[in-house]
Amino acid sequence: MSDSTQDILAHTENNVMTITLNRVEKKNSITSTMYAAMADALEAASADAAVRAVVIQGHESIFSAGNDIGDFLNAPPAAADAPVFRFLRGISSFPKPLLAAVCGPAVGIGTTMLLHCDLVYAGDNAAFSLPFVNLGLCPEAGSSLLVPQLMGNARAAEALLLGEPFTAESALEMGLINRIVPPLEANALAQRQAQKLAAKPLSALVETKRLLKKSQAGAVAERIAEEAVSFGRMLREPAAREAFSAFMEKRKPDFTQV
Ligand code: COA
Repeated sequence: MSDSTQDILAHTENNVMTITLNRVEKKNSITSTMYAAMADALEAASADAAVRAVVIQGHESIFSAGNDIGDFLNAPPAAADAPVFRFLRGISSFPKPLLAAVCGPAVGIGTTMLLHCDLVYAGDNAAFSLPFVNLGLCPEAGSSLLVPQLMGNARAAEALLLGEPFTAESALEMGLINRIVPPLEANALAQRQAQKLAAKPLSALVETKRLLKKSQAGAVAERIAEEAVSFGRMLREPAAREAFSAFMEKRKPDFTQV
């Protein structure tokens, strides 16, 4: 059993806050406690003038296996103020530069959170996947809007309807990530880039990011909210319950009745 207070580590050094997913034994799957800790960290980073950039990172073998499936089964988010939705609002409207270092699997929200990062550095072992349909769910984090924009409708259908994973090379070609490096170098590269940003005038960074996001910000917020309503309902429906039970019982799901 992990100590849930240590599952998210956040520290600030040289004006950069680093948020580390630290639940490696469960593949950095994210519990509601972890979403709350990340949402709190982003809020604190936004308010603290000493924080000029934020890096989200995992381990060199795993970024995140997505939402904790036991949590989905036993304590699905119930309202708009649930930690996962607070985290999504926080990450999608975060005003300062946001970077990520991604190695190994990045499943579900492990990939969709990257859509809201400004710079993403990936290990050559990174593997991205959006298996919402396979779990009886629909896209979240604005991914139903942002993924087709990023990769076009054809590849979006492979990623979101078939749930097919894609590689770091594809992610680079589509523009989801900035660079591919050996896994042991990804976190350090993200830190170096964050330090470069932290040395620039914060007001110029914040205004530039706001302008870059302006044409989409309203539509993204609206889509996140719409997806959340469907996602919240679908979490409680038979297809998702079967998928989660099958995962917990380490068996193949049977969707013939749903
Ligand atoms: N929620 C809860 N526990 C998870 C988890 C998740 N999303 N992903 C992995 N774990 C747990 C496993 O149950 C296992 O626990 P155990 O050691 O107590 O049996 C442990 O983490 C190791 O996982 P395992 O599947 O054995 O590791 P792997 O290296 O073979 O595979 C993944 C890694 C990420 C490919 C695989 O774990 C996976 O596909 N996870 C589910 C991803 C998913 O569907 N997420 C939801 C997205 S919306």
